[in-house]
Amino acid sequence: MQTRVLKPSEEAIAEAAQLLRQGELVAFPTETVYGLGANALDPEAVPKIFAAKGRPNDNPLIVHVGTFAAVEPLCYVDERARNLMDAFWPGPLTMLLPKKSVIPAVTNAGLPSVAIRMPSHPVALKLLRACGVPVAAPSANTSGRPSPTTAAHVMDDLNGKLSLILDGGACEVGLESTVVDMTAVVPTIVRPGGVTLEMLLTVLTEASVADSVMRPLRKDEKAISPGMMYRHYAPKGQLTLVKGEPDRVREVCQSLYEQAVAGGKKARVLAFEEHVSQYVGCKTLTIGSLARPETIARELFAALRRMDDEGVEVMLCEAVASEGIGLAIMNRMCRAAAFHVLEV
Ligand code: TXA
Ligand code: MG
Repeated sequence: MQTRVLKPSEEAIAEAAQLLRQGELVAFPTETVYGLGANALDPEAVPKIFAAKGRPNDNPLIVHVGTFAAVEPLCYVDERARNLMDAFWPGPLTMLLPKKSVIPAVTNAGLPSVAIRMPSHPVALKLLRACGVPVAAPSANTSGRPSPTTAAHVMDDLNGKLSLILDGGACEVGLESTVVDMTAVVPTIVRPGGVTLEMLLTVLTEASVADSVMRPLRKDEKAISPGMMYRHYAPKGQLTLVKGEPDRVREVCQSLYEQAVAGGKKARVLAFEEHVSQYVGCKTLTIGSLARPETIARELFAALRRMDDEGVEVMLCEAVASEGIGLAIMNRMCRAAAFHVLEV
């Protein structure tokens, strides 16, 4: 199959909507990452997503809607969920809600809940409204690789596996949406993202973060969010996260870098804008500014992909504090590092 990349003109969006209605796959930009979409209600179309990504079919998909009216036929919405929708939709928030029978098992892995989100990216919204069907869309990467934040990343992973990619430029948030389990007694973040715990608590009287967010799953443990089970966001080389007081972090990164290079390895230090110039004799890559952590979120996945492209074998990465958007950044960094975290 030939994969075309089109700028999101009115005609291109209309064509993409038509392809979705016909049961084909289309990749499109959202404010978080690029999604690989199919008609969520079409049990013939949805399996194409799993095939293209090499995704295990026990990992449920997020169903995207373009209007509030589109939600009600899909799931049961309580008052808490309604309040969150009013506050954060369209935007990077996904809710797990009790599903209704129209959701085919292939879309939500046969679970009692379904994940629903209304993205804020104007191209995503136009596409969803034009096609008139809910769209199941995971991140448009090969399963296990960092999520795509540009159309070029989607091409790198999925060229030949879908008919059309709408190229809306680089994604604003850069990390996938916050997933909140609204079927739990206390709404629980099972994947942190752009809508932080602090933000949820401005609307909800209580909310919590699943403790599995910041640690590897135990053997035999069942993930609340199955996607968190798999090796994820992983670059091909070995990534080590270094956490602690900045001067000490720099010393350790510098020394591990020198060891790697002495051992004949291609190495890189991933450092924040504020620290890069302090590394002497190290090859560095800037991954955003500590003063503006949203820039770290935006740049992280592209940086990991670049390390793969350049064949870097050893990466030493500075850690951030796990607060606000920092929780989502650390959740992805820890997984990319396969929980190889040094506290120094
Ligand atoms: O920002 C995003 O959420 C992007 C864009 C494209 O919208 N999508 C995305 O989808 O990241 P995906 O499939 O890569 O991640 C969805 C996560 C997975 O960890 C999945 O296991 C979890 O949500 N999930 C989906 N439905 C679920 C359900 N019913 N119960 C528990 N977890 C669910
Ligand atoms: Mg994904």
